[in-house]
Amino acid sequence: MTHGSSEESSPASAAHQLWGGRFAKPPSAALKALNNSLAVDLRLWPQDIRGSQAWVSALRAAGVLSDEEHHELCGGLDRVGERLAGGAGAGATDEDVHTLVERLLYEEVGEVAGKLHTGRSRNDQVATDLRLWCFEAIDALDDHVAALGAVLVSKARAGVDMLLPGYTHSQRAQPVRWAFVLLAHAWPLVRDRERLAEVRRRVAELPLGSGALAGSGIDIDRELLRKSLGFRTISGNALDATGDRDFVVEVLFAVAMISVHLSRLSGELVMYNSSEYGFIRLSDDFSTGSSLLPQKRNPDVFELARAKAARSAAQLAGMLGILHGLPAGYSKDLQEDKPLLFEAVDAATVTLSAVCGAVESMEPVPERMQAALSETLLATDVADALVKRGIPFREAHGLVGRLVRAAEETGVALRSVPGPEVAAIHESLPDILAGLGSFEDSVERRVSAGGTSRASVVAQIEGLAPRFTVPPAA
Ligand code: ARG
Repeated sequence: MTHGSSEESSPASAAHQLWGGRFAKPPSAALKALNNSLAVDLRLWPQDIRGSQAWVSALRAAGVLSDEEHHELCGGLDRVGERLAGGAGAGATDEDVHTLVERLLYEEVGEVAGKLHTGRSRNDQVATDLRLWCFEAIDALDDHVAALGAVLVSKARAGVDMLLPGYTHSQRAQPVRWAFVLLAHAWPLVRDRERLAEVRRRVAELPLGSGALAGSGIDIDRELLRKSLGFRTISGNALDATGDRDFVVEVLFAVAMISVHLSRLSGELVMYNSSEYGFIRLSDDFSTGSSLLPQKRNPDVFELARAKAARSAAQLAGMLGILHGLPAGYSKDLQEDKPLLFEAVDAATVTLSAVCGAVESMEPVPERMQAALSETLLATDVADALVKRGIPFREAHGLVGRLVRAAEETGVALRSVPGPEVAAIHESLPDILAGLGSFEDSVERRVSAGGTSRASVVAQIEGLAPRFTVPPAA
């Protein structure tokens, strides 16, 4: 059967419905406005067609379809896919994507289209489609996370020699390497990639063949379906499989965690980008201007990334809310999973790209970092030196506290407190202060594995780099 664009809007095609025989009246406009999901689930058409083609092959293997019918349906589904890729779904008024695909299949192959849904329900169908969609979403997110990780590592390579204050409680605490700070935001991305891989493993349980709730009336070879659709295993209970959306929650959690990581990185960079810190400068193509204040260079990318994290947390909470209290099996509540999932994944994708670009193009300002270092940041080094001379740390901590107070009261740097005053605090102090060395020396004293010393930072860079390479597509 040929198709023209006029068919999409013909009254006959608009009336295609997967149910209705038992009703005397058609669905009301108000019901349809609430119930129809095509506007949201249209994007599942590639997965719906793939799942339907696998289903048709399993029906042939089960002896339900002849070779010829199988051939016709598969070819018809291919053509439906081409039409949908060409925009045939735009303006359609079908109940959902499954109805749309079946309607278009009728247009392509005629009555034999009615055999497609044998032994299948939209309940196992939509669960399968959504899992297939999640595979691609997870893989794409993983690529984006890896790209950002690689950018952070390459920025870190260039930042090994730049020193700045490391902060706790937003208070200057100890000198650290700029590379070390960047790497602190790369490690969480390793965990994100591990989490995505683990979630992907659990997404890969095939629900197809579960029917509406109790299993399929056709003795379908689910192993065949599993292999052809690339799943790891088949679901163990049809009632569970049709109502299970744990995988949606898990994808949403992985996304929320990624978003939180982006937002923490962003929050820190917003601070460093302010005139008060001035540690980084954003490139023009990742800065925004103000409509009123001509001098402004705003870090909108990072500010939006912060807000997106809040939204993704809300989407996760929303999905948990939809599931709680539902009996096993499918309830229409589950249709509300898709707006949450799609919005969260879409937002994370856009945000990852923008943050990646903004980080890649930003420039560190090492002079400003250096200027923010003050001698009080060496206080721990003084305490450690006292400890090396046999003084218990708690006591050393108190002595250095007094030294810091003396410096503050005199309004001078730690090493400029008058000699007699220093010696009065502890006899070893003048000697220790004389040998304290530079900020670089201080950083090099943080020798523990994972610390900010050069050797540790270089080891982290070398260890992290291979964890952000995306394996070439098989
Ligand atoms: N649009 C539905 C969803 O997304 C498809 C499944 C409908 N199943 C049903 N029994 N009405 O959940």
